[in-house]
Amino acid sequence: ATGLITMDPGYKNTGSCESKITFLDGEEGKLLYRGYPIEQIADKSNFEEVMFLLLKGELPTQEELDGFVADIRKNTEVAEELVQMLNAFPQGAHPMGILSSLTSALSAFNPEKISVATEEEMYDAAVTLLGQFPVIAAWTQRKIKGLPLTKSDSSLSYVENFYQMLFNDGTEGYKADPVIVDAFDKLLILHADHEQNCSASTVRLVGSSHAGIFASISAGISALWGPLHGGANQAVLEMLEAIQNDGGDVAKFINKAKDKEDPFRLMGFGHRVYKNFDPRARIIKVAADNVLTTLGINDPILDIAKGLEQACLEDDYFKSRQLYPNVDFYSGIIYKALDIPTDMFTVMFAVGRLPGWIAQWMEMRQTNQPIGRPRQLYTGAATRDYVEMSAR
Ligand code: SDX
Repeated sequence: ATGLITMDPGYKNTGSCESKITFLDGEEGKLLYRGYPIEQIADKSNFEEVMFLLLKGELPTQEELDGFVADIRKNTEVAEELVQMLNAFPQGAHPMGILSSLTSALSAFNPEKISVATEEEMYDAAVTLLGQFPVIAAWTQRKIKGLPLTKSDSSLSYVENFYQMLFNDGTEGYKADPVIVDAFDKLLILHADHEQNCSASTVRLVGSSHAGIFASISAGISALWGPLHGGANQAVLEMLEAIQNDGGDVAKFINKAKDKEDPFRLMGFGHRVYKNFDPRARIIKVAADNVLTTLGINDPILDIAKGLEQACLEDDYFKSRQLYPNVDFYSGIIYKALDIPTDMFTVMFAVGRLPGWIAQWMEMRQTNQPIGRPRQLYTGAATRDYVEMSAR
């Protein structure tokens, strides 16, 4: 009806779904959040407003936004027991494993928000998680850096508050650089939702059994962790640093990627849906340039990334397979410039993706979707009789 692509009724058993939240056109490189083009949203909006838009379906009035932000701010106190759980993890634990565990543990400290039936109960569970999650996410960075835990400051915007919880060094009157906060806000917007990607589909599938929001989102975090999905932003930086350490010869790495004997994936390239360009990658590439210029950082890694991108765009193997940079290709360069540890890159992705996961969980529950039950194409043995041990 809206000229956008919809699934035919047969989709019911394919694990696909109907949704009103995000629209992608892989050929056109188009991404819409509730109908609004990502380019306009990234340029004109902010993460608090995008969270409201994804959950509620419309851009908020100032009064609606103030009420939404206030509801989140009521939920930034995290149970002391989670600090004890955080301390129990070994120093080298990957923050995504900690984040997934502590998110699931929120079920134990918010039992009344597991079994929800009304829109109001779902919204209440949503703002509880939106309040608690950035605190826990910031604590994972404090832990891996061996720093004291920080507290939420409800006088700040959502993003500035998250950033100060990551980096507040306790000096009197600490204030985050507004240029950095703005870049951070844009990055979180660009990661906020992306239709039925691996982690969002995981959230829907787990949520469809009515396991509750905390368990569903914890499952989504685990899915995002994989290097083929959100974990790619960490893998990209490790790959670019390997190219740098190997003398910066991008052609050598591209040839490795084409070597069928020893398949090597160029991380940050390719996409299941975008077979042209990922509109988010274009925006993040410009933001990376701006952040490094503004901060006066001359990071050779950015030049290696640009050289790798250019070489791939001109290479027949990559062109014939429609492989272009995706959202993860440039984001890590900005995170690195913001002094975020590589292990934390996918946690940053998770903080951005949280409102999208929650919006999809709410949509799935509010439209009374049946329990997810994808079918299979059976290619195993035909029916046969049992064979006694003596006859085997
Ligand atoms: C995200 O789904 C989403 O929306 C995800 C996401 C989101 O916002 O939620 O956009 C976030 O996960 C982005 C993707 C991050 N992952 C990476 O950057 C990891 C590297 N990329 C690849 O693993 C791969 O491109 C995928 C997983 C992203 C997509 O895989 P596809 O579409 O299943 O591609 P494929 O495996 O079928 O490969 C097709 C061909 C193969 O060659 P042939 O067998 O035809 O000879 O392309 C080749 C692949 O070998 N190929 C690559 C490649 N990706 C695909 N070759 C080299 N480097 C790559 N990155």
